[in-house]
Amino acid sequence: MKTALITGTSSGLGHGLADYLLNHDWAVYGCSRRGCDLPGVHDCRCDLTDATAIPPAFEALLRDTTGLDLVVLNAGILGQVRDLTDTPLADLKQVMETNVWANKSVMDWLHAWGKPIRQIIMISSGAAVFGNRGWNGYGLSKATLNMLAKLYSHEFPDTHICALAPGIVDTPLMDLLCDESDSQSFPALKRLQAARGSDAMPTPLVAAEQIVSVLPELVTRPSGSFVDIREILDPQGYARLYGSNS
Ligand SMILES: NC(=O)c1ccc[n+]([C@@H]2O[C@H](COP(=O)([O-])OP(=O)(O)OC[C@H]3O[C@@H](n4cnc5c(N)ncnc54)[C@H](OP(=O)(O)O)[C@@H]3O)[C@@H](O)[C@H]2O)c1
Repeated sequence: MKTALITGTSSGLGHGLADYLLNHDWAVYGCSRRGCDLPGVHDCRCDLTDATAIPPAFEALLRDTTGLDLVVLNAGILGQVRDLTDTPLADLKQVMETNVWANKSVMDWLHAWGKPIRQIIMISSGAAVFGNRGWNGYGLSKATLNMLAKLYSHEFPDTHICALAPGIVDTPLMDLLCDESDSQSFPALKRLQAARGSDAMPTPLVAAEQIVSVLPELVTRPSGSFVDIREILDPQGYARLYGSNS
């Protein structure tokens, strides 16, 4: 039986991944603050921004495992879509704590744990490279996450690491972008709002299936790479998207 550790399994993409893998006979270990409602997930409640909480929580969670086939560092927050000049430094720091430094804490724990890990996926975003107006702390955090993947690739020589943009997924994070943000001031929101409810914005379960389908392709790329899943699954859409955002 294959084994996966996924962060952020209480909601959205992490929940979808846990659900998909459980239904394909994987053993799934998950963590979040609220907890995962899926029976069968080995669940732990942990605030990943609390670096001191991670070692005891993960030691207990992974006590019986001899290694992991897959780690998905998925937990993340959006922050508010607004101009950088309107964004307090404390808000940017909070997004960086969750989207970057929490992942550093997990990576350091996995390194010290020392058991074999085949593949690590850090969930990134097109926002890591687009630089659209309003995507302030989120864009900064995902760009830094891409570099985190590259830097850690040197320190995990036996593990394949990839920062993966999953495309747009219909999750609670998307509620903030589609329902509560101002698309006049922040035009990049219009593409997301138009995609909601269509195949262009899959459910978490469908997005999870897509991610699992590209795992073999990802390991053919240099460890530490940033890959946008649309490059593999929809090359023409990818070329249009990245062309219009460059
Ligand atoms: N949705 C999209 O279209 C999209 C596109 C590109 C990238 N992504 C990325 O995909 C990932 C998942 O996002 P989502 O859309 O599924 O959002 P979501 O539904 O809001 O899920 C976020 C998950 O992260 C967990 N989390 C947040 N802060 C945490 C903390 N301090 N400690 C532990 N867990 C924490 C949440 O659990 P608790 O609140 O229970 O702790 C939740 O399970 C994120 O990294 C996001 O940037 C999403």
